[in-house]
Amino acid sequence: MCGIVGAIADRNVVPTLLEGLRRLEYRGYDSAGIAVVNGKLERLRSTGRVNELARLAGQRGLSGNVGIAHTRWATHGVPSERNAHPHVSGGVSVVHNGIIENYDEMRRKLITQGYEFVSDTDTEVIAHLIHSQLAAGGGLFEAVRRSVAELAGAYAIAVIHESDPAQLVVARMGAPLLLGLADHGNFAASDAAALVQVTQRVMHLEEGDCAEVGLRAVRVLDAHGRAVERPVRTSRLTAGAVELGPYRHYMHKEIHEQPMALASTLETATRAQAISPGLFGANAERMLGETDAALILACGTSYHAGMIARHWLEGLAGVPCNVEIASEYRYRESVPDPRALVVAISQSGETADTIAALRHARTLGHRCCLAICNVPESALVRDSDLNFLTCAGPEIGVASTKAFTTQLAALVLLAMALAKLRGRLGPERERTLLQMLRRLPLALQNVLGTEPRIRVWAEQFAQRGHALFLGRGIHYPIAMEGALKLKEVSYIHAEACPAGELKHGPLALVDRQMPVIAIAPRDALLEKLKSNLQEVRARGGELYVVADRESPLADGDAVHVIRIPDHAGVLSPILHAVPLQLLAYHAALARGTDVDKPRNLAKSVTVE
Ligand code: M6R
Repeated sequence: MCGIVGAIADRNVVPTLLEGLRRLEYRGYDSAGIAVVNGKLERLRSTGRVNELARLAGQRGLSGNVGIAHTRWATHGVPSERNAHPHVSGGVSVVHNGIIENYDEMRRKLITQGYEFVSDTDTEVIAHLIHSQLAAGGGLFEAVRRSVAELAGAYAIAVIHESDPAQLVVARMGAPLLLGLADHGNFAASDAAALVQVTQRVMHLEEGDCAEVGLRAVRVLDAHGRAVERPVRTSRLTAGAVELGPYRHYMHKEIHEQPMALASTLETATRAQAISPGLFGANAERMLGETDAALILACGTSYHAGMIARHWLEGLAGVPCNVEIASEYRYRESVPDPRALVVAISQSGETADTIAALRHARTLGHRCCLAICNVPESALVRDSDLNFLTCAGPEIGVASTKAFTTQLAALVLLAMALAKLRGRLGPERERTLLQMLRRLPLALQNVLGTEPRIRVWAEQFAQRGHALFLGRGIHYPIAMEGALKLKEVSYIHAEACPAGELKHGPLALVDRQMPVIAIAPRDALLEKLKSNLQEVRARGGELYVVADRESPLADGDAVHVIRIPDHAGVLSPILHAVPLQLLAYHAALARGTDVDKPRNLAKSVTVE
């Protein structure tokens, strides 16, 4: 959940490190730090954001040709300067992303060797351990290799040493790390976005790799100590893709990028005249053909996408489907059906719980795993047999928006492919669905036109402490997603409830102070939903209804209706997500929260 950057170059690397941190800040942002070697080790840390660190670095005239930097999401120890990285032991300095599970034991051992701990972090043990290993000879690289062999847990680390300014050493296990290669130097970072300003030539390190990064060359040893060549790829990421442009916040930019993100994600499928299982990988036809059930694993917003997919997989394809919160599934005793296709959904492909759940499913005998992911080189994609890469582009705002709608697009394609393989998708229905998918980006563009009216709602919501979201059937997960978005960025307490459940308890919450948002497209459950809305009005609740072109609902006393201009049938959840994203964004704006970096959260949840 932290971001790390390292650099060695023929010029001052401080601007590169700071720019890298700015681009990684979405991974964690409760403190930041930097260390360089310039004759001696110099370190700066701050509990403010990267801009504050940059100000301090400017003030101090910090400069050096080799350095490391870090932006933190606290796990061990409160956010404070003392706990901020880099951590130091003698002339050794370390930045770390991950969690060292045996840190307590290591700490006790190092204390008996005379080391003094000045932070509450697990990372400080790595710094002392490497320092202690230097005495055994072989230089920094060997000291790091011997040290990581003693660590249990997850780490991506970058290390520099005052006495060896010609190298940067990095290692990874269970946390992402890549190298960036350029003519004027070499770099390391948690993701390619951090290096986009210096190079697009990247080398992803594998689990257990340890690399010696010099000015002109890099040397990688794998987990067994063998020299290995990892492929060098050209990252498709451009500096423009991670710029804010005319927007104030990434969340707003990313909401507005959805028509384009959907069009790109659907392009291969909708350019063809027929749906093909090949969209999911070379062996997909055989593997999907052998599937007679599905098990979806995901967290947060991605879990909501999975809940919607269940309706498509069962309704369109007749495939029984279980949807599990990854962090619960991995620790619960479940009865596996090894023929069930495991579908792991994750924007980042780095979410520790989702990756662990996928591995758990394999240990239970599941044979085929499909990843739906937005990051091509992620651990999740690498661990899967099949994959579908959504083309949302980098999602920087902590609140997931365009990743969600593109995941839904991928999942509807999966349902169609399975339906076809099972003889449940006739040519007429296939044509109609493909036509609806072709129209989807435009339909979503039209939904964005509701923004001015949503903003008015948001100003009213911003005054309230609570909100209740209602939906039925396939739109209940959209209500859940609306509630998650609102609480995540505006800090307004929000709950979602299947509308039919209201009278079984949550109705007790409804009074004049409780705004109730209902997702009400014209579908088979609309009449039922209308009765539930009457129950709310009868208790004085104020209704905010997101309807579609065909829903027979109108504004009334304490009933506000916003109508999206289309009726998208089975694809309706994709469109209905958008007004709720806008509602959360504008409510957060009205309350003055830090929209892209909400308190206590981080974009990639790489720890349990
Ligand atoms: O990268 P992932 O899709 O695996 O992330 C899962 C959740 O952490 C994520 O969706 C989270 O709930 C979002 N911040 C919600 O907006």
